[in-house]
Amino acid sequence: MECSRTPLVAGNWKMNGDLQLVDSFVNELKIDSGVDIVICPPACFIAKFENAQFSIGAQNASQFDKGAYTGEQSFDMLKSLGVTHVVLGHSERREQHGETNDVVALKTKACLDAGMTPILCIGESLETRQSGDLFAFLKGQIDAVLEACGTQAMPTLVIAYEPIWAIGTGVTASPEQAQEVHAFIRSELSQLDAEKASKTRILYGGSMNAKNASELLAQNDIDGGLIGGASLKIEDFTTICNAAG
Ligand code: 13P
Repeated sequence: MECSRTPLVAGNWKMNGDLQLVDSFVNELKIDSGVDIVICPPACFIAKFENAQFSIGAQNASQFDKGAYTGEQSFDMLKSLGVTHVVLGHSERREQHGETNDVVALKTKACLDAGMTPILCIGESLETRQSGDLFAFLKGQIDAVLEACGTQAMPTLVIAYEPIWAIGTGVTASPEQAQEVHAFIRSELSQLDAEKASKTRILYGGSMNAKNASELLAQNDIDGGLIGGASLKIEDFTTICNAAG
């Protein structure tokens, strides 16, 4: 990993956890310096993270400022609770809530405009990988966002490569598979601005756990992780954070 990029480990709790888990993370998560840590709990728990020693992220936000959007919340509303990062374009949002590349691009722009850090998720299904369209597919996901946000999105923008076939399956991309894609993502960013691309963090997500984290994080272009299941266990999450440091 290049020294110019501080590793970032983000826990995406998805729709899991309870107030007891919140308490244990606030009181017990001990962090090595040199790693940025973000916990993204369900939105209803965010206000309970006061005085946490790590950053708080949201799992989604609306592209709109305010208005008749039942069930939604704006970036500014989240920011007012101390949220600094927002996971955007997660494959579960794309699949379950019909979020297209264009919607994800609008959300990423609104996030940056609010002065917050987007964690933009991209990643292919097994079908896409097997069809040989992997790189064209990922390029489409990246281009939509960069066309809307411009190169000034970098290096704040964090990209999380999460192959759908590795999410929650226990099947992890091999370090070589992940590095190949991360290098591709960075080369795409470099075509727009090489210096900014070298400072932009690219995370891996998809069944990263306490056992496989070090090998993945040792790859040149893997700057941290976006962790689902293993972020619900404080010991496992701590091990992953320490492996990133
Ligand atoms: P798992 O770590 O449970 O595979 O989930 C990854 C993920 O989707 C994080 O956003």
